[in-house]
Amino acid sequence: MQTLTVNLGDRSYPIFIGQDILSEALIAPFIKGTQVMVVTNDTVSPLYLDTLLGCLPTGNAVDVTVLPDGESFKDLTHLNLIFDRLLECRHNRTTTLIALGGGVVGDMTGFAAASYQRGVNFIQIPTTVLSQVDSSVGGKTGVNHSMGKNMIGAFYQPQLVVADISVFSTLPDRELSAGLAEVIKYGLIYDYSFFCWLEDNIERLIARDADALAYAIFRSCEIKAEVVAQDEKESGIRAWLNLGHTFGHAIETHQGYGNWLHGEAVSAGTMMALLLSCEMKWISDEDVSRARMLFEKANLPILPPENMSEKDFIELMSVDKKVLNGELRLVLLKSLGKAVVTADYSKEKLMSVLGA
Ligand code: NAD
Ligand code: GLY
Repeated sequence: MQTLTVNLGDRSYPIFIGQDILSEALIAPFIKGTQVMVVTNDTVSPLYLDTLLGCLPTGNAVDVTVLPDGESFKDLTHLNLIFDRLLECRHNRTTTLIALGGGVVGDMTGFAAASYQRGVNFIQIPTTVLSQVDSSVGGKTGVNHSMGKNMIGAFYQPQLVVADISVFSTLPDRELSAGLAEVIKYGLIYDYSFFCWLEDNIERLIARDADALAYAIFRSCEIKAEVVAQDEKESGIRAWLNLGHTFGHAIETHQGYGNWLHGEAVSAGTMMALLLSCEMKWISDEDVSRARMLFEKANLPILPPENMSEKDFIELMSVDKKVLNGELRLVLLKSLGKAVVTADYSKEKLMSVLGA
């Protein structure tokens, strides 16, 4: 097992990464009171709930909330199911919420933990590639609104993240690929040598080679932890983690939540950000081709949906959280391995990328 720390002073927490690592010894020290609420969904619960329950200390009163599975249920209505259950089972402010599932369960449980009785203890047990490399680390929690992705939420850090990579054995291929979009993102924004490692190892990752996956998860979490430690509330460098997301969130909202997976939308969105960076002459055609090939080898889409117009994009992108004083700031690349957040790009070139 490998351990990383997200360094946030007295709110620092560990990320444990490894194969078959769920155990009582690992989790028990992070449960504060005597009550536990596990939140999961109806796909993950038959697969891993019993294993988790078997790892919880016997002295705890454990309740479970099972949410319906899907991005389309990541909303205030379904968030309320968690609060209903917490209140029905009389959970008090010393309770511990444990998220067992992908990013949807993690984001919703985290937001419930942030707001139930003004904040309770919270543990993340992410079960997708995407949630292990991104959503479980760094404290962004929340739900969607029909007019925009992740528009309602809070920054709220967990006390512990356990990334057990053995759960990938049941993950559908499409979900594995979607998670790799966020892994590729880390190479593009932060670490050129990791990007090159991904070029060399993408086939192993797609074939679910355990060592390759463990390294990709570790390096991604390491980068995310470094970025979050520098800029927890996204006033600077953390925005880099949103490469491709302004375009991607517009795609997800336009297509109806869940129709394009988050990672798929990020992949097509990242290609749009790279094309604009290339139009600005910050990166070369060859850089764009290398990224395109990597996304293609990861079985990810590289083009936006055909039914989206420039107008659709502009309308949906105007609610992005990076809009400042009416100006849309975008995450673009200055080189492979180095991102920038800027409003200083040609609006004409943006329109041409949106219409391409
Ligand atoms: P997801 O949570 O919908 O999980 C994908 C699918 O895989 C679901 O059907 C789920 O039930 C299933 N699943 C999960 N684990 C499984 C397993 N081990 N075996 C079999 N099936 C399994 O999607 P996701 O890609 O994990 O997360 C996407 C969400 O994360 C989006 O809502 C996105 O906005 C959010 N996100 C948040 C952050 C953040 O910083 N908080 C970062 C990136 C993405
Ligand atoms: N996934 C973007 C972030 O955590 O900031």
